[in-house]
Amino acid sequence: MTTAATLPARNFYGCMKQKQRVITLSQFIAEEQQKFPGASGELSRIFRDIKLAAKIVNRDVNKAGLVDILGNHGTTNIQGETVKKLDVLANEEFIAALAAGGDCCAVISEEEDYIRPLNPDAKYIVAMDPLDGSSNIDVNAAIGTIFSIYKRVTPVGSEATLEDCLQPGNKQVAAGYVIYGSSTMLVYTTGQGVNGFTLDIGIGDFCLSHPNIQVPQNGKIYSVNEGNFAQFPLPYREYIKYCKQVDKESHRPYSARYIGSMVADFHRNMIKGGIFMYPETESAPKGKLRLMYECNPMSWIMEQAGGTASTGTERILDVIPTELHQRVPVILGSKNMVSKLMEFLQQTAG
Ligand code: AHG
Ligand code: MN
Ligand code: MN
Repeated sequence: MTTAATLPARNFYGCMKQKQRVITLSQFIAEEQQKFPGASGELSRIFRDIKLAAKIVNRDVNKAGLVDILGNHGTTNIQGETVKKLDVLANEEFIAALAAGGDCCAVISEEEDYIRPLNPDAKYIVAMDPLDGSSNIDVNAAIGTIFSIYKRVTPVGSEATLEDCLQPGNKQVAAGYVIYGSSTMLVYTTGQGVNGFTLDIGIGDFCLSHPNIQVPQNGKIYSVNEGNFAQFPLPYREYIKYCKQVDKESHRPYSARYIGSMVADFHRNMIKGGIFMYPETESAPKGKLRLMYECNPMSWIMEQAGGTASTGTERILDVIPTELHQRVPVILGSKNMVSKLMEFLQQTAG
């Protein structure tokens, strides 16, 4: 059996060049699920539904400049942010695919104020940010979809409850994202490492292109919205100054890279090594990014890739959620870079 472990690390399209077998996402998931005797196939079918919706959204994203789907939809979501047309379309596409598949009992979405109940006889919850980085749609920069899957805790046969939906990130059974970039990729984990699949438009399927992704322990990129610098807590300001200092031995100054699209900033830093921060600010005292469908899935992926994910005071995955649209400060990245930031945070706290 060909597995991620038997392939060379990150052989982007190398599988074709080396005449190795092309492994599609469905094949890979089927092989992965075989390791769990008794697996019923429901999780694989949810992935099938997510994959289908991602392909539809990818098509919509690609034609965004051609048809009238650019611009504001004119409504605001529960957080008072302007909703773009593509956010609405993506939300509808993912929910429609999950509803048709029948294996999801409820969806939590950035674009839905409340829990969206689906099949009461199903056992999986999906939390999602259907379109992440939506301010980048109009300027052709990379955007994404983030998803997280949980098993419900109440018995099947009734509508999923808040208890089912508000589980900590350490209870996720799968987490992933789709990046609609210079190519479209789906990256996910089920707790057995992180694997990336590139959409081959020619065959209409996601093919394993980045097996067993590992984030470098030391990176040279820091990603933060530095426009908010004056509002950051002191330790962050000190750490950012440290990133800019010249020091040959530690390869500083680091490079600043920030698109404003979490998926794209995260993906780049995971591949190249780096740190992504969205701290609390005066205007956003709990940070900006949402625990259930932005921070938890990305944190699990980062940890599975060998990196660290923290709020600055605790592991993101251990945060007990209290609200569907809860926000948390977030630090994600290369182990040694996050440790260094932690030193600054602890020094100032102590
Ligand atoms: P969304 O488009 O789903 O609302 O998410 C935008 C998020 C995230 O993608 C990004 O990291 C962050 O907002 C950028 O925020 P700032 O513009 O405040 O830097
Ligand atoms: Mn988002
Ligand atoms: Mn969004």
